[in-house]
Amino acid sequence: MPAHVAIIMDGNGRWAKKRLLNRVRGHEQGMETVRNIVRTAREMGVSALTLYAFSTENWARPKAEVMALMALLRRFLKSERPDMMENHIRLTAIGELDRLPPEVRADLDETMARTAANDGMRLSLALSYGGRAEVVHAARAMAEKVRAGALDPSAITEETLSQHLYTRDLPDPDLMIRTSGEMRLSNFLIWQLAYAEFFITPTLWPDFTPEEFRDIITAYGQRERRFGKV
Ligand code: FPP
Repeated sequence: MPAHVAIIMDGNGRWAKKRLLNRVRGHEQGMETVRNIVRTAREMGVSALTLYAFSTENWARPKAEVMALMALLRRFLKSERPDMMENHIRLTAIGELDRLPPEVRADLDETMARTAANDGMRLSLALSYGGRAEVVHAARAMAEKVRAGALDPSAITEETLSQHLYTRDLPDPDLMIRTSGEMRLSNFLIWQLAYAEFFITPTLWPDFTPEEFRDIITAYGQRERRFGKV
């Protein structure tokens, strides 16, 4: 069983286009998939699930789509609170959270605060997230410590850098799933996924089912992870 699963939820737009629907309908259906996969991961005993919900690049989408995604996120944060409490899910977020609209930030903060003591599964939403920006942020934080005399440059290790990332209190993901067939990382957890197993499925995110998620977890269990060794 992977302790930490990271998912690039891709294909909402294509799902909608195939049905001659507005892209936002695809995101709405994608939110249903989020609900189902969170529940399934929790049932299966996954300890941490990180979902790429909004990248720094996504700010460049049409304003109406960005606003719709933000509204959906608020809906999700509010409607899922009871379920998160019932299933002991702790919600956290990674990314440039200061860039989120104030009302989204408020709902996020409230959900994080209310679920802070839950110890069942960690649900981490990557919001306004970019992997390179995260590494830059960490480098800056370390440089500040060096300037203040609190950190010796020769003492900086991989562990030190990891401790300055948004994910400092999470283990690196064991498994990365990407839906809708694209073979790329799209600036997602570029440091943390160094040794993760990748599973790319052609299924569009709104069509991704708990059954397929379970199948991928089973397939992961059959892969041999060598971490560069023989
Ligand atoms: C990629 O599909 C998906 C996104 C950019 C946003 C992900 C959002 C959701 C799954 C819904 C809301 C999430 C939460 C956590 C409430 P795309 O639009 O890039 O699809 P395309 O590549 O087919 O155009």
